[in-house]
Amino acid sequence: MSSEEPFFTPGRNSWATGGSATRTKTECYPVLQPLFLGTSSSLAKPSSPSSERVLLEVAAGFGEHVAYFAENTPTVKFQPTEAQNECVAGIADHAATAVHKNILPPQHLNVLAPAQWDAVLKASGPFDGIYMFNMLHISPWESTVFLFEQAQKVLKKSDTPGTAFLAVYGTFKRNGEFSGEGDRLFDLDLKRRDERWGIRDLESQIFPEAEKNGFKLKERHEMNYNNLLLVWTL
Ligand SMILES: C[S@@+](CC[C@H](N)C(=O)[O-])C[C@H]1O[C@@H](n2cnc3c(N)ncnc32)[C@H](O)[C@@H]1O
Repeated sequence: MSSEEPFFTPGRNSWATGGSATRTKTECYPVLQPLFLGTSSSLAKPSSPSSERVLLEVAAGFGEHVAYFAENTPTVKFQPTEAQNECVAGIADHAATAVHKNILPPQHLNVLAPAQWDAVLKASGPFDGIYMFNMLHISPWESTVFLFEQAQKVLKKSDTPGTAFLAVYGTFKRNGEFSGEGDRLFDLDLKRRDERWGIRDLESQIFPEAEKNGFKLKERHEMNYNNLLLVWTL
C-alpha cells in the first residue's frame, strides 16, 4: 500500500460511531493508567526519571480514547496521531476543548511512512509509551511489521531496559484459531472489504514481530468480546 492511498472510503468509518471506543476507553483505562503514570510494576524504574511523561497514540481514530485518557490523567501529555485527515481534524476538536490542555496538536502518522514517524519523534518525542486500539486487523500485514519496527525507534531509551511500553488492544487468533464464531465472521467481513485485512495470529505473527524488535511481553489481559490488551516493554 502506498502511504498516500486512502484507508477507508467515505461511509465506511462505521467504527467511528459504533460505540466501540466508548466501551473500550473505560474498560481499558484501569489497566493503562499505571502504565501512563509510570507506576506499573511491569515497568522498570529508569535511573533518571523524566519530569514529564509523554505518550503517543497511533491510529487514534476521531480521538475518543485520547480525550478520555487525557482528562483522567492530567499530569501526562498525550500525542495523538492518525493516518486519515478527517480523523486528525476530529482529534483537533477534542484537543481544543480538553479540560487540562494536555493533548498535543494531533499529527499525521501513517505507520507505513518512516518519515512521518521521524517527524512525530521530532515534534514531541521520544515517548515514554505508545498505545494503539484496533488497527492491526483493519490494515494490511505490513502495518504490523512497521508498527513494531518504528515504535522502538521513537520510544525513550534508558540505561535500564523495560522502562518504555507499547500497549496494543484488539482481537487476535490464538494458535491459528479464531477465538469464536463472531471473529471468524468478522474476519470474512474484513477480507470482503479489503483482501489484505484480517485478524492476525498471536503466536505465528504478532509475537515474532515484537520479539524481532526487542519487545518483551509483560502483560496479557483478556478483555470483553474476546479482545486482548497486550503490553510489551522495550
Ligand atoms: C477501527 S479504526 C480504530 C480507531 C480508534 N483507534 C478506535 O479504536 O476507535 C482503525 C484505525 O486505523 C487507522 N489506520 C489504518 N491504517 C493505518 C495506517 N497505515 N497508519 C495509521 N493508521 C491507520 C484508520 O485510519 C482508523 O482510524
